[in-house]
Amino acid sequence: MCGIFGYVGKRNDAGALAVEGLKNLEYRGYDSWGIACKTDGVVLIEKSTGKISTVDSNDFRESCSLAIGHTRWATHGGVTEFNAHPHANGDQKIAVVHNGILENYQELKKDLMEKGHEFLSETDTEVIPHLIEEYLKQTDDFAYAVRMACKDFDGRYAFLALHTESNTLVAARRGSPLIVGVGDDGYFVASDIPAFMEHTKLVQYLDDGEMVVTNGDNIIFSDLETGDEVVKREIEITWSIEQAQKGEFEHYMLKEIMDQKESVARAVNQNEEQIYTLAEAIRNAKGTFLVGCGTAAKACMAAEYFFSVIAEKHVNFAPASEFKLYHHFLLPESLLIVVSQSGETADVLEAMKIAKSKGSKVLAIVNVEGSTIDREADYTLLINAGPERAVASTKALTGQMAVLLLIAYTLADKTQEGKRLLLETSSKINDMLNPRYVEFVESIAEKIQEKSDLFIIGKSWNYPMALESAIKIQEVSYVHAEGFAGGELKHGPIALIEEGTPCIALVGNDEVKADIISNAIELKARGGHIIGISPENNEVFDEWIKVPDAGAAQAIVNIIPVQALAYFLAVKRGKDPDMPRNLAKSVTVK
Ligand code: M6R
Repeated sequence: MCGIFGYVGKRNDAGALAVEGLKNLEYRGYDSWGIACKTDGVVLIEKSTGKISTVDSNDFRESCSLAIGHTRWATHGGVTEFNAHPHANGDQKIAVVHNGILENYQELKKDLMEKGHEFLSETDTEVIPHLIEEYLKQTDDFAYAVRMACKDFDGRYAFLALHTESNTLVAARRGSPLIVGVGDDGYFVASDIPAFMEHTKLVQYLDDGEMVVTNGDNIIFSDLETGDEVVKREIEITWSIEQAQKGEFEHYMLKEIMDQKESVARAVNQNEEQIYTLAEAIRNAKGTFLVGCGTAAKACMAAEYFFSVIAEKHVNFAPASEFKLYHHFLLPESLLIVVSQSGETADVLEAMKIAKSKGSKVLAIVNVEGSTIDREADYTLLINAGPERAVASTKALTGQMAVLLLIAYTLADKTQEGKRLLLETSSKINDMLNPRYVEFVESIAEKIQEKSDLFIIGKSWNYPMALESAIKIQEVSYVHAEGFAGGELKHGPIALIEEGTPCIALVGNDEVKADIISNAIELKARGGHIIGISPENNEVFDEWIKVPDAGAAQAIVNIIPVQALAYFLAVKRGKDPDMPRNLAKSVTVK
């Protein structure tokens, strides 16, 4: 949430670099933006409400080799120009951009106001430059003043600071991500790699409780608490620029849906030794817990069925935000499996903290290599989906489910069978996602675009996919959508069905097929317009979206046309599917 970007080095177009870098971070927040450039001993700040994607970087070509920028997802204070970052101190000599929440900002602000500081915004961030100013009364070392200020902060933050009297960019991190890009002609510091990937693929990760100081020629990492220097490795990232771009597609969401032609196979391509070790860890654990948020949570729910049906193994799912009260069940021999696309989700990190406090081990299934969850887990499996930029998670979900299904097969001593099934499924997805198929899904969206309510039913592993379908449709098209276990409708929600209400039934060729078809018949009897997503047609369907028969991987296949349907519903209703209202890609607040 919120994207931050900084550059210092030999280039003299740092402002323009910041604008372009922020455009690649817009998925993290897009209600306002701002840039601060240090030039001729002054800090020039420009900020506005609206999206950074509408800003022309040519307007920021004035000579400047040190700049910071921000794209905001509002937490404290509404969407106004005053609340947009960067924030400065009273004499505008110190500028700061920040991602996270300073929980004790009200006390700090009160103290600072008593000392005569005046504030212009409602944000927590504005205390940072003012507090640094206070510490600069005791030292002329800017980095030291930043470090002292950090000691006063409670909460989660990643921030960048610059000062008119110093040619350094100073950054600090506690809880929110920050990554350094090592360029040929300077250093970048940003919330995520796509911000500077065009300029360098060499990165250094800041860990929690660390700061970095760079003048563009040298860089020093140190511990925020002690000030001791920390040595960092340079890591070359494997993602390509093309993977991170939209290419021929109008939106990232559609591109990422189409990426599933290959991404499921990439997820399956795991080191077998590692999968065996992890399956062994699950087998021996005294209690295995699975947590994630939003879409990743639905992958965890599906995995409960995978483990039960394929490996006859019980695992416990909880949304990460609800995991706190499970701590009574955790033992040092327990295992927590966390699932996350971004690897930065605050509720997931909190669940990991709880498990670690009990001595339990943590296995992470993540997409973003080097993310906080990746680095804090005891073991990690990367799903290798490639960058996912649209707020709506699509290819990460199917990658997560593929990895979890493979683990379930390994637990049942059937790794090769699982691998074969998943690779066959991948090639069926490749065939399915042809232009005619996508157009057909679009035509269904065309028919139902005016409807205000939509219901989705599924059973077994298609039940979490019904819940996931609802998330996808809600978040991008703003249509009221709800997912249910097929058998639950008659216990209440069926009262909502009226003549013509679109109802999607997720069906597989499995032992619950007859039950879910019966549930669809019940809906049809109340006027429901039934859209069947199924390998075979059925007379109850008013519309049939054919999917390949994928056996135990059916949930992975069935969700894909719903992702496309949600995408087309959004576009037809005039919404931007990549940047839905009120949301941001990585949710780094609790
Ligand atoms: O990065 P994560 O997978 O941890 O994110 C979890 C959720 O915030 C995320 O899946 C969210 O629900 C998406 N907007 C769903 O499309």
